[in-house]
Amino acid sequence: MSLSVTKLHPLFAARVEGIDIARGFSDTDFAELRAAFEEHSVIVLPGQTLDDGQQIAFSERFGPLEMMLPHAGNNLNPSHISRMYNSETDGAIIPPEDRRMIYLKANRIWHTDSSFKETPSLCSLLYAYEVPPEGGETEFASMRAAYDALDAETKAQIEGKVALHHAARTRDMVAPGLVTPERRATPPVRHAMVRTNPVNGRKALYTGGHAGKIEGMDEDESEALLVRLLNHTTQPDFVYAHKWTVGDIVIWDNRAVLHRGRSWNDAVHKRTLHRTTVAGDGPTV
Ligand SMILES: [Fe+2]
Repeated sequence: MSLSVTKLHPLFAARVEGIDIARGFSDTDFAELRAAFEEHSVIVLPGQTLDDGQQIAFSERFGPLEMMLPHAGNNLNPSHISRMYNSETDGAIIPPEDRRMIYLKANRIWHTDSSFKETPSLCSLLYAYEVPPEGGETEFASMRAAYDALDAETKAQIEGKVALHHAARTRDMVAPGLVTPERRATPPVRHAMVRTNPVNGRKALYTGGHAGKIEGMDEDESEALLVRLLNHTTQPDFVYAHKWTVGDIVIWDNRAVLHRGRSWNDAVHKRTLHRTTVAGDGPTV
């Protein structure tokens, strides 16, 4: 074992040291890192110095990248990089009422990336360029720990069930009109409510803000169960809050954790993070 792995939470999340991404690393090191990712779901690699090209190349070690659709977070350019930022390139803070800032607020709702796609994401990687002195954490909730802690009756209730996911659900919680009519018109996608890790067999409850309806249940029953499952998953015991330091890159398993960004004094302090998203290997049902 050439990497050092330190747990960050009793149930999941670990800091891994011994890899300098820009300098390069061996296939053995990457195999250890990948194993740590499967085991701990959230991996923090501190002290990195990267540009977008290096972040993309590193992310591609995990698999092919998703192309982000043009949106306010990537200046409307389709790209492998999604920027989360609150300052212009000249350094001026962007006012909170700017459409770009409103769009990014959807990140503050618990979700798992790309669950509105038929093939949802395997993992996302977020690299910190600028961070505020206080606030602006990214929180992660373990859907594995949440599954393990469910009572037998609820486990039986969701086994084999499918939920419908749509991106409009989280955007509509932030502000009306964030979703284009074309995007709203796309049909929701079907996802298994329980996902099993192919390496270690651990089960995770697959839920989050994009999940809107459970097939085979009436609206009220479905809504009540989804709210109960989300509250259960995001209880404090199952949450790791990552306080950012410049140079951190955090990799999280979208099959096994939910995440959300927390607020900070964004009228005063800058926060710039760049995200890459690795595609999953196929539909979940
Ligand atoms: Fe996200």
